[in-house]
Amino acid sequence: QSSSSIQIAVIGSGYVGLVAAVCFAEMGHGVICVDNDERKVKALQSGDTLIHETYLPELLSRYCNKEIRFTTDLAEATRESQAIFIAVGTPQSETGDADLSYVEAVACEIARSLTKYTVIVEKSTVPVYTNEWISRALVRNGVPRDLFDVVSNPEFLREGTAVADFLHPDRIVVGSDSPRASEVLAGIYSPLTGGSYYQRPDAIGGMCSAALPPPLLFTSTKSAEIIKHASNAFLALKISFINAVSNLCEATDANVEQVANGMGLDSRIGPKFLRPGIGYGGSCFPKDVAAFRSVADQMGVDFSLLTEVEKINAQQKTRFVRKVRTALWTLRGKKLGVLGLAFKGETDDIRESPAVELIEMFIAEGCSIIAYDPAATSRTQEILPAGPKLEYADDAYSTAKDVDALLILTDWMEFAKLDLQRLNSTMRYPIVVDGRNLFDPGKMAAAGFTYISIGRPA
Ligand code: UGA
Repeated sequence: QSSSSIQIAVIGSGYVGLVAAVCFAEMGHGVICVDNDERKVKALQSGDTLIHETYLPELLSRYCNKEIRFTTDLAEATRESQAIFIAVGTPQSETGDADLSYVEAVACEIARSLTKYTVIVEKSTVPVYTNEWISRALVRNGVPRDLFDVVSNPEFLREGTAVADFLHPDRIVVGSDSPRASEVLAGIYSPLTGGSYYQRPDAIGGMCSAALPPPLLFTSTKSAEIIKHASNAFLALKISFINAVSNLCEATDANVEQVANGMGLDSRIGPKFLRPGIGYGGSCFPKDVAAFRSVADQMGVDFSLLTEVEKINAQQKTRFVRKVRTALWTLRGKKLGVLGLAFKGETDDIRESPAVELIEMFIAEGCSIIAYDPAATSRTQEILPAGPKLEYADDAYSTAKDVDALLILTDWMEFAKLDLQRLNSTMRYPIVVDGRNLFDPGKMAAAGFTYISIGRPA
């Protein structure tokens, strides 16, 4: 390790924690990654990443049991580290708030072993004021106030491109009210902000020494906490907005793709996150929109705009069911082929997946389903086991065999590359209802399909 190497602990080895841990090792730091799940720690020690993520297996095998160690021993990790990143889950509670009991438990455990100045870093998505609660928990557990600082360093990585996002971020946000803590964080990120990482020939994503290094933005801790929630809520709003526009396009025979393109070329709007579909899902947007709304409520701020965002997102699924019903006249007794279970393409994650929710809705309508996903089938089977109304296929073509309609519910690249002639010849009725606009309507018509998509004329 180089002289600028910093010893870091990462608590929690989920998506954010594990990716941060291997990326810190890739940036030249020493990392202890802690999880209280012994099975998980054993798997990670043997090089099993447990999640489907590009670059993660190779980085893990490069650094595992060397620059990065996995353990269940939080006390040891606390004693040995200059900075402790808390990256445990903050799930949604029944009231919509973020459940912070895991964060609190970690703070109390850190307090028991803290003997020298350490920076505690919130990496999990947390509501504003969490840094103050963490400080209070440490002090209540006997830690002198000058022995620690709590900073907020939110993470903006997306599943599927998590490692590349971490190492090539648009910005790095550090919310800190202490110059001493800010310096530690600046040191940790200096390989990225100073640009040296991008000059390495083995840099993930390729050497790109010409690219501008990411800006390091210092804010107050509260601002940083709000930046994370506000960013996710804004992206969700963008999606609900384009979904509402797509509905208007359907009602007027306009084309939402042309509309989104025309809007997105305005640099103030931007082209990204304007893809209409069956609504956003995943472990972040639904939870974070609800938590942000709840924070606003608690502060007496009217943010009912977010309630509308959620409403449009839910309606997008019922609209899709209606669309399939219109295509098939009635739903009861129909057999539907489903392509896609994951909440988006290129991941095996099914948390809050609109695809899974839609399958449940179609089964409730009396349909039977045959479903296929390139990576998420076994996870889906754990919550929706195969039965008389639901079976799982091994590939897209066998999913399409003898169904009344084929539904596309996840934007996997693999689906966009399907051989249309072969698909058509497999199907009893060549009806495709595409919830992700993966195909060109003209090409689908030319290949003999009745093709229905989102916000575009047939
Ligand atoms: C999201 C954010 O994009 C990340 O910046 C953030 O760090 C992360 O949440 C988090 O808070 O941890 P992620 O949930 O991995 O990342 O997935 P996205 O790529 O943002 O997609 C979220 C959902 O929106 C998916 O269901 C996707 O299909 C949908 N989506 C996305 C659309 O329907 N239309 C779009 O144009 C974009």
